[in-house]
Amino acid sequence: MSNKKKLHFPNDYKVGVLGGGQLGKMLALAAGKWGLPFYVLDASKDFPAGAYSTEFTEGSFKDFDDVYNFGKDKDIVTIEIEHVNTDALFKLQEEGVQVHPNPQALNIIKDKGLQKQFYADRALPTSPFRLYANEDELKLSIKDNRLIFPFVQKTRTAGYDGRGVAVIRSADDMDKILKGPCITEPLVDIDKEIAIVVARNASGEITTFPPVEMDFNPVANLVEYLYCPADISYNVLTKADELAREIIEAYDICGLLAVEFFLTKQGEILINEVAPRTHNSGHHTIDSCQTSQFEQQLRAILNLPLGSTTMTSPAIMVNLLGEAGHTGPAIYEGMDKCLQTEGVHVHLYGKKITKPFRKMGHATVVDTDLAKAKEKATFIKNTLRIISEE
Ligand SMILES: Nc1ncnc2c1ncn2[C@@H]1O[C@H](COP(=O)(O)OP(=O)(O)O)[C@@H](O)[C@H]1O
Ligand SMILES: [Mg+2]
Repeated sequence: MSNKKKLHFPNDYKVGVLGGGQLGKMLALAAGKWGLPFYVLDASKDFPAGAYSTEFTEGSFKDFDDVYNFGKDKDIVTIEIEHVNTDALFKLQEEGVQVHPNPQALNIIKDKGLQKQFYADRALPTSPFRLYANEDELKLSIKDNRLIFPFVQKTRTAGYDGRGVAVIRSADDMDKILKGPCITEPLVDIDKEIAIVVARNASGEITTFPPVEMDFNPVANLVEYLYCPADISYNVLTKADELAREIIEAYDICGLLAVEFFLTKQGEILINEVAPRTHNSGHHTIDSCQTSQFEQQLRAILNLPLGSTTMTSPAIMVNLLGEAGHTGPAIYEGMDKCLQTEGVHVHLYGKKITKPFRKMGHATVVDTDLAKAKEKATFIKNTLRIISEE
């Protein structure tokens, strides 16, 4: 357990991950490539990572005792979701377990208010923001003309996949206002949204994956297509890459950090938010880069040499979402046609139940010609339907 003993790769490393969703599953698959002992904590072994872990512990990653008891006999504990019990992680760290990302950074990142303040304090570019204790305080601010339309409201904690974000354009949207402690930001005039996955190990080595461009479904506020390489200028690429490196160092994170940026119509680069883990915008790396983001996270937390992030092919990733109006056991209609298409790599997460807009899997299309990849990605989007008979 102690980090003082000499660890021999891979068998001496007991890696524990908090969270057993699709990110945990893909991390487990990367660990499997090396035969790395891999342990998972989450509510149910039926979750995506359940069948792929060396051992699965049923419990809550939000509960102090569950996290502490799970982590105490591990060498390294990492996460696939940021909303975990960090008090237990501090205790584990004190007792010699390596915790990546460090719990101080996690506490900042999982609170959007603290996260924005972190960038403001370091003069890192982000949109201006204000903090509110609750929705009443926010409404009072509107009434007093201190807060003007349009603005974006975000809950400080527990937002995920657009669920903690509301765009308030006018007084007509007042019923959309979310409850609880929150921040507001001006509505940014976004030209493009890009993301960079950056990795850092304990030796201080840093690598970045090429920026990806995200295309959102306006209804679900979920990423629908993701393009890599992003269609951006060399200047923007260099600047965003530098920022990603600076941010991971500022947080002193070993592991991965996905940095989401807004490129504004006025030509600015703003940091939107970060996730200290593998990220949807890095899924394409499994099929299009020398090293996947999942292997890179393992390399980074184990302090192994980081892998090459060079692309082997341009790629487009499509999230495979549950069809609207369907809840129940999942049926993948049109799968044969997708599997028949050259360059299409289908990843299903193994979730038995589909729900409207639930992330059930993703497909990565690789093609040397990005325009052809776009055609195929659209074909998949229109052909594959995740439905339920019930
Ligand atoms: N200030 C803003 N101006 C315009 N659009 C925004 C703003 N903040 C967020 N959005 C939109 O909402 C999406 C989700 O917001 P984000 O803060 O990334 O929350 P989540 O945790 O759900 O990913 C962003 O990717 C962007 O499309
Ligand atoms: Mg986001």
